[in-house]
Amino acid sequence: SQRTLVLLKPDAVRRGLVGEVLARIERKAGWTISAMELRTLDRPTLEQHYAEHVGRPFYEPLVEFMSSGPSVALVVEGERVIEGVRALAGPTDPIAAAPGSIRGDFGTIVRENLIHASDSEGSAEREIKIFFPALA
Ligand code: GTP
Ligand code: MG
Repeated sequence: SQRTLVLLKPDAVRRGLVGEVLARIERKAGWTISAMELRTLDRPTLEQHYAEHVGRPFYEPLVEFMSSGPSVALVVEGERVIEGVRALAGPTDPIAAAPGSIRGDFGTIVRENLIHASDSEGSAEREIKIFFPALA
């Protein structure tokens, strides 16, 4: 089975959507939350996490937003969980996300899109090391 790193971003925490989003993940048969922590992400952590986006025009506002309040970081394990959580989340831009997806139901603007989920096995292992080094 696989594992993936999920972040419920500061907008999800501020808007009281943590329970709603976690419930969608929890009720998928066979998936397990194996680590979870509420934490305000600092710049060095975000720089590592978003290394692929350093220098892009949206990078600074993204880091600003992602450090603006607590996030919930979690590791989810299960069958095809990487693809599965991204399907629950929907596309990056909430306007393009279908109703029924997390971003489609609750998203506002592209930067404040509620949730991050690793996009491949390689990213998942890299990101789990950043947020939960003890699990690596
Ligand atoms: P994550 O799961 O958060 O990594 O989202 P993603 O994989 O769907 O998107 P990506 O990794 O390409 O971008 C990371 C985050 O940067 C997105 O979730 C958005 O919050 C933000 N972002 C990405 N592209 C844009 C953009 O064109 N404009 C703005 N303002 N933000 C963007
Ligand atoms: Mg991404």
